[in-house]
Amino acid sequence: LAADILVLAVPMHNFGPPSTLKAWIDHVVRVGRTLSYSQKGPEGMLKGKRAILVLARGGVYSDGPARPLDFQEPYLRAILGFIGLTDIEVVRVEGIAVSAIGPEKAVASAMAQSKEILLQAA
Ligand SMILES: Cc1cc2nc3c(=O)[nH]c(=O)nc-3n(C[C@H](O)[C@H](O)[C@H](O)COP(=O)(O)O)c2cc1C
Repeated sequence: LAADILVLAVPMHNFGPPSTLKAWIDHVVRVGRTLSYSQKGPEGMLKGKRAILVLARGGVYSDGPARPLDFQEPYLRAILGFIGLTDIEVVRVEGIAVSAIGPEKAVASAMAQSKEILLQAA
C-alpha cells in the first residue's frame, strides 16, 4: 500500500504464475483493502502507482504458436488492474529452454527491454 512502484519477478509455471505468487495475490486482493465495491461495481484502490512485471519463461509466448497458452501475463494484468494498477510495463525473459534462443539471448533481450522502460520514464 505504501509503495509507489510494484516490481514482480515471475517465473511461468505450467502456463501461469507460480502457486506461491497466486497465494500472495489471494492475500493482497481483498475487498476493503485493495478494492471496493459500490453500486457502480468493483473499484481498485491502488490507483496512481506503477507496476513492472519481469516474466521468465522457458518457451516463447509473446508471439508464435504458444501465444494462446500464456495465462501468466494476461492474468497478472487482469488481477493488478482489478486493484487499480493499470500502469503496467512488462519485461519478458523468454525462450530460455529454446535451443535457438537460450538464457544468454533471453537475458540480453530482457536487458534491452528494461533499458527501453528506463528511457521512457526519463
Ligand atoms: C514447475 C515448473 C513449471 C514450468 N512450466 C513452464 C511452462 O509452462 N512454460 C514455460 O515456458 N516454462 C515453464 N517452466 C520453465 C520456467 O518458466 C523457466 O525455467 C523460467 O526461467 C523460470 O524462472 P526462474 O529461472 O526465475 O525460476 C516451468 C518450470 C517449472 C519449475
